[in-house]
Amino acid sequence: MTAQTVASPLATGTEPGGRHWTPVAQVSEVAAARNYLTVDLGRTPAIVMRDDEGELRGFVNMCRHRGMALLEGCGTVETTIRCPYHAWQFDVSGRLRVIPQRPSQFAEVDQSRWSLLPISVAVWRGLVLAHPDAGQPDPGPELSALAGEAPESPVVTAGRLVELAGPVPGYTGSPLVRPGPAHGEVAVVATGATGMAHVLVSVPDGPDAPARAAALLDAVVDSLPARTTAA
Ligand code: FES
Repeated sequence: MTAQTVASPLATGTEPGGRHWTPVAQVSEVAAARNYLTVDLGRTPAIVMRDDEGELRGFVNMCRHRGMALLEGCGTVETTIRCPYHAWQFDVSGRLRVIPQRPSQFAEVDQSRWSLLPISVAVWRGLVLAHPDAGQPDPGPELSALAGEAPESPVVTAGRLVELAGPVPGYTGSPLVRPGPAHGEVAVVATGATGMAHVLVSVPDGPDAPARAAALLDAVVDSLPARTTAA
């Protein structure tokens, strides 16, 4: 593959492993309503979720009552996001819907002011990216400038979580963008404080697209100081 590797300039702060766009999933992993995944964006625990209208949303994974983590891992919520501590419930758009202790407690609370705190979520070439700060501009144009323009066509994506044996050369805290060997192919690598790296690839659709995506993913993973991998 092309050796060029570019550190994304999309960072907006100096927090280690934190305040920048991070590739977190393939779109197919949060394709259906109420699908969710959790991820640490530096020091910000986050939820990425598809709401009932089909929109991807992101929230800080922290209850607005006393800060309990609301969800873990990935999956699909049945109806609402229910806090495991005192059972406050938020809908999949982040709005506080139920305070079970009412009216004996919290009678004065204006629920409309206690929605989950939003983060920024974007989709670029079939990959989901998240930023711990709300209201961030779409990173797509800047990522495309780094990766090279892609054909206006659907893409095929693949991803892997890699346990690292050491630091990734050239990694300075914001995602690495690696153009692939063919036009429109790209890999994005991001590591966090846990010693794990997200590796996601996107290639233009075509008859051999899954094979090209798999080969690009293998090539990028092989180039990392990787110890073990998990699908
Ligand atoms: S901490 Fe979530 S309901 Fe109390």
